Amino acid sequence: GKVRAPTHIISTIADDRGEEPCYAGVPMSTIVERGYGVGDVISLLWFKRSLPRYCTQFIEICVMLCADHGPCVSGAHNTIVTARAGKDLVSSLVSGLLTIGPRFGGAIDDAARYFKDAYERGLTPYEFVEGMKKKGIRVPGIGHRIKRGDNRDKRVQLLQDYGHSHFPSVKYLEYAVQVETYTLSKANNLVMNVDGAIASLFLDLLASCGMFTKQEMDEIVDIGYLNGLFVLARAIGLIGHTFDQKRLKQPLYRHPWEDVLYTK
Ligand code: ACO
Ligand code: LMR
Repeated sequence: GKVRAPTHIISTIADDRGEEPCYAGVPMSTIVERGYGVGDVISLLWFKRSLPRYCTQFIEICVMLCADHGPCVSGAHNTIVTARAGKDLVSSLVSGLLTIGPRFGGAIDDAARYFKDAYERGLTPYEFVEGMKKKGIRVPGIGHRIKRGDNRDKRVQLLQDYGHSHFPSVKYLEYAVQVETYTLSKANNLVMNVDGAIASLFLDLLASCGMFTKQEMDEIVDIGYLNGLFVLARAIGLIGHTFDQKRLKQPLYRHPWEDVLYTK
């Protein structure tokens, strides 16, 4: 009989060997004929299943809302400086992407981990936030450089509204809102940020859409899929900033001396 040679790679999300490529078993023609969107493609390639429309629409809203936040944020700044140094699209893009992390855009996975753990352990917002403070860890998903209690982030509001009107349950979001109420009582800059809103609502999506077992939800949170949403989304804006700088024929950037404190 046939002897199967051992393989060096195992892959389970896409297959390009047939007449047409398949994403998680769904042929490309089906994707086009049924008018699937980017949210459906993310569902197939990241979660290996077709999710209900309200879930794929939520994914698309996350991508649209996080696509850009102006030229001054870490990612766009790096991309602009790199493009002005004459570098190519990919270099300019990755230079911006490399700033995504625990302080900027990449706090979604940790926010999901900490909010989920605190909720499951039944911690009050006070116990959770003060416990984090004792450990010297900033609460991921809370805090913003320019948004304040009296100048909320519209994106956070839009995400929350979508969850309230479309999700069967928003218990994690409600917990995150209670955490925010407590942090805002401490300082006006400690608002729920877009990472915190996506994290808590994605926990609600995973827990309540009926498409994931508890074990699958735990694995998604442990591995950390959710920063991928910000990375994917912000790439759209960073590519735009690269084109913008090239179109404007901007010269090499040099930071002004006056804006540096030279000291010993
Ligand atoms: N949890 C607890 N305390 C906080 C938090 C937080 N998440 N954020 C700020 N603080 C405290 C700081 O400890 C500081 O107090 P201190 O001076 O007594 O130490 C005070 O609030 C002011 O903090 P700053 O450092 O001035 O705040 P900054 O504006 O630099 O930080 C940042 C903004 C980086 C977003 C911060 O709030 C943070 O680390 N948040 C957690 C990570 C996070 O969610 N990042 C995603 C932001 S949204 C985005 O990037 C798309
Ligand atoms: C962003 O989306 O880039 C931000 O929320 C960060 C910022 O400082 O505006």
